[in-house]
Amino acid sequence: MKPIQVGLLGIGTVGSGVFKVLRRNQEEIRRRAGRGIEITMVAVRDVARAAEIVGEGVAVVSDARQVIANPAIDIVVELIGGYGIAKTLVLEAIAAGKHVVTANKALLAVHGSEIFAAAQRQGVMVAFEAAVAGGIPIIKALREGLTANRIEWIAGIINGTTNFILSEMRDKGLDFAVVLKEAQRLGYAEADPTFDIEGVDAAHKVTLMSAIAFGVPVQFDKAYIEGITQLAATDIQYAEQLGYRIKLLGITKRTDKGVELRVHPSLVPAARLIANVEGAMNAVMVQGDAVGTTLYYGKGAGSEPTASAVIADLVDIARLHTADPEHRVPHLAFQPHTLDAAMD
Ligand code: NDP
Ligand code: HSE
Repeated sequence: MKPIQVGLLGIGTVGSGVFKVLRRNQEEIRRRAGRGIEITMVAVRDVARAAEIVGEGVAVVSDARQVIANPAIDIVVELIGGYGIAKTLVLEAIAAGKHVVTANKALLAVHGSEIFAAAQRQGVMVAFEAAVAGGIPIIKALREGLTANRIEWIAGIINGTTNFILSEMRDKGLDFAVVLKEAQRLGYAEADPTFDIEGVDAAHKVTLMSAIAFGVPVQFDKAYIEGITQLAATDIQYAEQLGYRIKLLGITKRTDKGVELRVHPSLVPAARLIANVEGAMNAVMVQGDAVGTTLYYGKGAGSEPTASAVIADLVDIARLHTADPEHRVPHLAFQPHTLDAAMD
């Protein structure tokens, strides 16, 4: 069977990781997917820099619409970020009948309803494992591994940048601004790091998990959001002296009045597992009625950990693309129920 053809929009921190991992592990990935997965086209602004990364045999263009218009491309991977051009391109790719993989939690948390509805109408998939908790397969866990459960709540450290800042401030006594710069250098932070430090990125992610776990629409505008910018080094020290760690938690849970969504710094007893999640690592706890509490831990940001999740989506789509069309769509396509139905 001929390889599935992928077009990348953006080849920055995550895109370059996708390219490297796909190339390095191509044999294993081909075996697992049942066919090869090849990046044949890349769109970026800086064509010369991208051409150096991908080498010969991959077309590098500056106009993303050339990728979308190419009939040979089966899957478009959006790794540009933000709500602007990324939204337009994702909707155009769907309209052109392409499956879409994206790591863009901001886009899906804010415009997810429109995007998922468009995908549903076109019978294509929109997959976004990389959008939440980087390399941790939490979307798969919620959709598949925990599918028998009535989920009660989810709570986690889901922003690597802020966890890195809090860890470095506590352990090394470093200044907030210095550590933020380092997080940017390491490729953890968003293009606009205000999203990280003000808790917005974590709210995007908890919104997506909430929609999956509780079958509610994506409702980012309902989230309470407080970041870490008001914390001083002394807060961290006092918490430590009292036997606590300060962690920025994203929390969603069922209540009698509906689904709660919030992000804020929290005091976590130092002996708890989640209090000991350091650096850019993420950890997500999920409470299900049958399974009890489960914990998922791993790298929440960075080039190859995030690429790992993007490629997992590519493999899923490659497998389903190969299958009988009747069995393709519902697996990954997003099917939110109404809030009322979910709370019955
Ligand atoms: P980068 O800023 O490193 O890369 C963005 C890429 O998009 C660059 O290659 C840039 O090209 C390209 N680009 C920008 N505008 C256009 C355009 N109009 N047409 C074509 N290409 C364009 O971002 P990241 O890789 O860090 O993030 C990508 C996405 O992944 C974001 O949605 C982010 O939130 C998400 N994400 C990031 C993680 C991380 O750890 N970094 C983890 C999980 C998700 P050029 O360089 O030429 O300007
Ligand atoms: N800026 C994000 C973080 C990237 O620090 O967690 C991963 O989504």
